[in-house]
Amino acid sequence: MSLRGRRWYNNPNKWAGGGFMKVLNYGSLNYDFVYQVDHITAAGETQASEQRETFCGGKGLNQSIALAKAGAKVFQAGTVGSDGQMLLDELNRYGVDTAFVRMIEGETGHAVIQVDRNAQNGILLFGGANIKQSKEEIDRTLDAFEEGDFLLIQNEINLLDDLIDSAFDRGMCIVCNPSPYNKALENCDFSKISVFMLNEVEGFQMTGKKEPGKILDVMAKQFPRAEVVLTLGEEGAVYQKGSVRVKQDCIPVKVVDTTAAGDTFTGYFIAGIIKGMRPADNLKRCAKASSIAVSRKGAAPSIPTKDEVDIV
Ligand code: RIB
Repeated sequence: MSLRGRRWYNNPNKWAGGGFMKVLNYGSLNYDFVYQVDHITAAGETQASEQRETFCGGKGLNQSIALAKAGAKVFQAGTVGSDGQMLLDELNRYGVDTAFVRMIEGETGHAVIQVDRNAQNGILLFGGANIKQSKEEIDRTLDAFEEGDFLLIQNEINLLDDLIDSAFDRGMCIVCNPSPYNKALENCDFSKISVFMLNEVEGFQMTGKKEPGKILDVMAKQFPRAEVVLTLGEEGAVYQKGSVRVKQDCIPVKVVDTTAAGDTFTGYFIAGIIKGMRPADNLKRCAKASSIAVSRKGAAPSIPTKDEVDIV
């Protein structure tokens, strides 16, 4: 395997708090329609909801806002429909650069989210504009970035395989949150990924293993050069690089809505890498940020600022 996408690793100015690398988040932008329900609706069941609220969301948008709130400079790329201005305004409000977001005809992506009495959720996606990416736009966007810059991706847009190949050819450091995990990911060359951010469900889907230690064993074997962050809900999170594992416990809070907890963790983790934080300190900060996010309603609005997180 070529090491092109990983050259930045050996450049301490790029990695350890040098701070001049850019972060491009190429991902989804959604309107989230959030329904409070007694329980997640079962197959064949009809259930009345207790309340509906609309929030800005999408794994792409949430992770960009988490990065920005954590203090990083981030560029969002992707596509919204003609009804998507509110999402751009939300990103801009937190200082995310939206110059690479295209507004096209048609509908913006959305998510129908059920939140149950235990604050657990079930999410149904409508791709809309998110699945209208083109190769030309991907190349035009990546042309503005260079070797050592970060590309953050999730799996709510089309052409992810092309995006990974093009970014790797340019020597970018690719951070992948393989969520939601589905067939489209089978076309992607994961050996080009530098950092995986995944939860237990995605870990199982990627490795066929349920137990966290076994998930990490398989990831280490298949992707020996990649860093892996496995989030485990109430059990905290584990960081792995090679034979090194670092565990972080969850910070207990009253949970209101778990939506975007993982997105918060991902955004804060990348911001921590850019700050040059050691994995243990980085995980601790991410756990704090996620614990605040789950204690609030909604996706993007629940993500805390660094002032809220870094308070002693
Ligand atoms: O991770 C939470 C997000 O997943 C929601 O904001 C929703 O839009 C879906 O993308």
